[in-house]
Amino acid sequence: MRQTVAGPAQAPRATEPASPEVEVELELAGVRHGFGELKVIDRLDLRVGRGETVAVVGPSGCGKTTLLRIVGGFTPATSGQVILDGEDIGHLPPNMRNTKMVFQSYALFPHMNVRKNIGFGLKLQKWPKEKIDDRVDDLLSLVQMEGLGDRTIDRISGGQQQRDPDRRGDQTRDSRPARRRGALFG
Ligand SMILES: Nc1ncnc2c1ncn2[C@@H]1O[C@H](COP(=O)(O)OP(=O)(O)O)[C@@H](O)[C@H]1O
Ligand SMILES: [Mg+2]
Repeated sequence: MRQTVAGPAQAPRATEPASPEVEVELELAGVRHGFGELKVIDRLDLRVGRGETVAVVGPSGCGKTTLLRIVGGFTPATSGQVILDGEDIGHLPPNMRNTKMVFQSYALFPHMNVRKNIGFGLKLQKWPKEKIDDRVDDLLSLVQMEGLGDRTIDRISGGQQQRDPDRRGDQTRDSRPARRRGALFG
């Protein structure tokens, strides 16, 4: 895992993938972002290699979540480019990007049980119910939560609640855990 430093206290610097042979999957070029007078990200260059895991570290309020939101498409950068697999995706909304974001707050639907929370994105994509059920079973078993699918959100532990959005980040793609392929943990 590679660490990248964000925030005004330690100016972000250009970084290259850990190994020069690794193909660049995600590139941020000259990304800036501010809220009014507040400069949060001041020209960040970052290259992430395919399969590489990068942790962005820095003090609270330095812009880590803002950076992930920019990559995920939830916050447009003031300027600069976000390039994924060679394509500038800066203009695309979150649902049109091949990225997944697991938010710091669990963002679970309180009126739905665990199964429905996990399968929600697939339902929106109009997957047939049986296929959703199979997929949700697989994901529950992946995080050792078999048997908890029918529980309401307030009847599972904090750690289990955290695993639920992690599975939600997984559900629409392949069977590898979200943290192993292009997911953003904010
Ligand atoms: N929507 C917003 N409007 C105004 N200021 C914001 C907004 N979101 C974040 N900020 C400010 O931007 C800075 C970076 O926030 P954030 O990216 O959430 O920090 P971190 O995740 O590193 O703790 C903070 O000073 C925060 O108060
Ligand atoms: Mg944050």
